[in-house]
Amino acid sequence: MNVMIIGNGGREHALAWKLAQSNKIDKIYCVPGNGGTANEKKCINIKIENIDEIATFAKENNVYLTIVGPEKYLIEGIADKFENLGLNIIGPNKKASMLEGSKEFSRNFCKKYNIQSPNYSVFNNYNSALNYIKNAKFPIVIKADGIASGKGVVIAYNFSDAKKCIYDFMIKDIFSGSGKKIIIEEFLEGYEMSIFLLFDGINYKFFQSAKDHKKINEGEKGLNTGGMGAISPHPKLDNELMKKIEEKIILPTINGIKSEQLNYKGVIFLGLMIKNNEPYLLEYNVRFGDPETQAMMPLLKSDLFDILNNIINKNLNKTEIIWDNKISCCVVLASKGYPLKYDTGYNIKFDINNTATIFHSGTIYKNGKIVTNGGRVISVVGTNINLENARKNVYSSIQNIYFENMYYRKDI
Ligand code: AMP
Ligand code: GLY
Repeated sequence: MNVMIIGNGGREHALAWKLAQSNKIDKIYCVPGNGGTANEKKCINIKIENIDEIATFAKENNVYLTIVGPEKYLIEGIADKFENLGLNIIGPNKKASMLEGSKEFSRNFCKKYNIQSPNYSVFNNYNSALNYIKNAKFPIVIKADGIASGKGVVIAYNFSDAKKCIYDFMIKDIFSGSGKKIIIEEFLEGYEMSIFLLFDGINYKFFQSAKDHKKINEGEKGLNTGGMGAISPHPKLDNELMKKIEEKIILPTINGIKSEQLNYKGVIFLGLMIKNNEPYLLEYNVRFGDPETQAMMPLLKSDLFDILNNIINKNLNKTEIIWDNKISCCVVLASKGYPLKYDTGYNIKFDINNTATIFHSGTIYKNGKIVTNGGRVISVVGTNINLENARKNVYSSIQNIYFENMYYRKDI
């Protein structure tokens, strides 16, 4: 069987690495892949970007199943295209992807289906937003409605910051249309949790939990990033909290998707804030997380292909997902300067004695060498029955990896 993975991050390398372990799989086309997938068994990097060309490639190369990493393709409608051609794809169609693609759509969905989430208001007009913040209780959270490369959420602590933000989003139009409509919502203080569900259109299955570390600096300070590290499972998820998440978030979400007849199959990634032991939905993502996937894959004992195939066959209710009884720690090695400006093109040196699992993100394979090619460069993952030992494993392995301007957080 041939499969295809779309994307070029650490998440996609981790999925490829895990799928390569399935004896049902012959070839894995990585579109476009990275320096890690270039050297992963069964993997072939294919450099195409356009959705039509990707679909044609899948048809011509007998691709049985495609999994999409980045939301961008799903929001653009790749699943609709594949389904029209009779191709199997893991990911919701264009309309259902609005759960991630439009904050207004997702907040209205939460309200309609009684999903516990922060109070919010939607603004299409700068003056109305300005009037609203004059009487607001700070901090408030301002969000661009559309996708904005992870930069569309600002926590404003006072009126002047809020005013600047809504001006930048709505008038200066810094997100080329994505911020013309904004959502202003209640700021919730607590801790965050990523929950991954699989859904086949009929049945859902809890997949795994993780703790993401989104800020660039230690102690959760500084700019937001795509994620600088992850722990899985989330150390604070216990049965009592899980029960609340099921009742107040998961069941009404599944009910909402079914009631709205959204064409959804694939991953439902719930970004939660836990405040006073109560879960609130901050956002839906319609795909796996990065770097959460790098933390999760080394713990997955079941065959990932079987699980994904059961999404296609609507057999998730008969699927057993077995995990190693360990905890995993993933640390992202980034290019200094990320998430702003950074240089690329540096050789990466690896010591072969590494005991951790290594996934590539922003790397390319060039003239027999692995070279940096992005902000987040490598994910290093250690697992152990004890979190402290998993951490020790990761941080000692990092000592064996080197590239110029390498930066990572020491407190994952
Ligand atoms: P989002 O893309 O909506 O998940 O927002 C990105 C990040 O902003 C989240 O991971 C949180 O750290 C923060 N955030 C978003 N909404 C809120 C909120 N209502 N209260 C507090 N923090 C928030
Ligand atoms: N780590 C968060 C995300 O993938 O959106």
